[in-house]
Amino acid sequence: MVAQTSRIRYGVIGTGMMGVEHIHNVMAVDGAVVTAVCDPHAESLEWARIAVGLSADLATFDDHNDLLDSGLVDAVVIAAPNHTHHEILLDAIARPVHILTEKPLCTTLEACREVVEAAEASEHDRVIWMGLEYRYMPPTQRLLSELEAGTVGDVKMVAIREHRFPFLPKVDNWNRFSRNTGGTLVEKTCHFFDLMMQITGADPVRVFASGGQSVNHLDESYDGETPDILDNAFVVVDFDDGSRGLLDLCMFAEASVNEQEIVVTGDVAKMEALVTESLLRVGKRSDGQHVVDTYEIHHEGIKHVGLHHGSSYLEHVDFANAIRMQEPAKVTLMDGLRSAAIGFAAHRSIETGVPVMMAELPELEGLDW
Ligand SMILES: NC(=O)c1ccc[n+]([C@@H]2O[C@H](COP(=O)([O-])OP(=O)(O)OC[C@H]3O[C@@H](n4cnc5c(N)ncnc54)[C@H](O)[C@@H]3O)[C@@H](O)[C@H]2O)c1
Repeated sequence: MVAQTSRIRYGVIGTGMMGVEHIHNVMAVDGAVVTAVCDPHAESLEWARIAVGLSADLATFDDHNDLLDSGLVDAVVIAAPNHTHHEILLDAIARPVHILTEKPLCTTLEACREVVEAAEASEHDRVIWMGLEYRYMPPTQRLLSELEAGTVGDVKMVAIREHRFPFLPKVDNWNRFSRNTGGTLVEKTCHFFDLMMQITGADPVRVFASGGQSVNHLDESYDGETPDILDNAFVVVDFDDGSRGLLDLCMFAEASVNEQEIVVTGDVAKMEALVTESLLRVGKRSDGQHVVDTYEIHHEGIKHVGLHHGSSYLEHVDFANAIRMQEPAKVTLMDGLRSAAIGFAAHRSIETGVPVMMAELPELEGLDW
């Protein structure tokens, strides 16, 4: 049994942009303290020291195993680059610590499966939480609770549009190559495939995608290599209850009002969550054409808004509660595998030009996912 105290000591592994964001969020959670950080990049460690407070007692490491063995942490947050998640997760799962890992779970489906199976085989009694905080965006949360209340009836269609700015530069430019990220439809849009499954409550059956790298990063070069990351796609997902999802991703559309628009249509009503404007729109078929109610969504409980509209803070509150109450994770490694699996299938569909049946993914054979 991992120690259950009201004060939770956190270690953050990887203290670049997202690691520092996690530090701010952890520090906003009651009874949570960041005691250790790990990063091989000295400048990132300095960002972490500043975030925690220069006078605070903070242990710093450049190897995650030293942090894990330090005895200084009850929980770790993994915010290192995607291609390091597999090794760091396997090492963390072997230790008696609570874990919250950033998305995507790993950069290959084999690696995702290995991590899920290692966690299932582990005898440590602790919380392992998959960081998919888009579930916690306030308008999205409201949409999910309205769905549960039956507002749209039976969900038939989910259309998610993300139109945004290009990927930002990262430490050592790791995110410029699909071999490090898992591919844009894994790395970025696993969030939206997770939401599609949350919204439909159904399992994905078939994935058909069209996409490419049309605009971004084509004039960049790293050691003579041009980035190969996809910047736009349409992905169609068929679910086993007959509902269907559409992802519309464009990463050269910074001139947009909303970064994410989630549109859910059922046999009773249509609902739209507009994330940047923080609005929810509901139109009931029985009220007739053009009759749409609009609600402004605010979450009073958010103590740190940060980079993701307060969603990371809300997720950290739930993670800390699960640790204290000894409850299972609400967002699991299996959620991480499932959301990434649709992304891997979408990339495969783009490569082959044909739809991909989820049941035929060889990496998932024999796995109850
Ligand atoms: N949930 C979200 O919305 C969201 C947003 C951005 C990034 N992320 C995820 O967060 C993770 C980090 O992304 P980022 O944007 O902070 O990148 P970043 O490049 O800003 O930071 C990554 C940090 O990890 C460090 N690092 C590299 N190898 C390491 C290792 N073996 N052990 C410990 N640290 C190591 C790097 O030196 C760097 O400081 C990625 O998995 C990314 O996909 C999630």
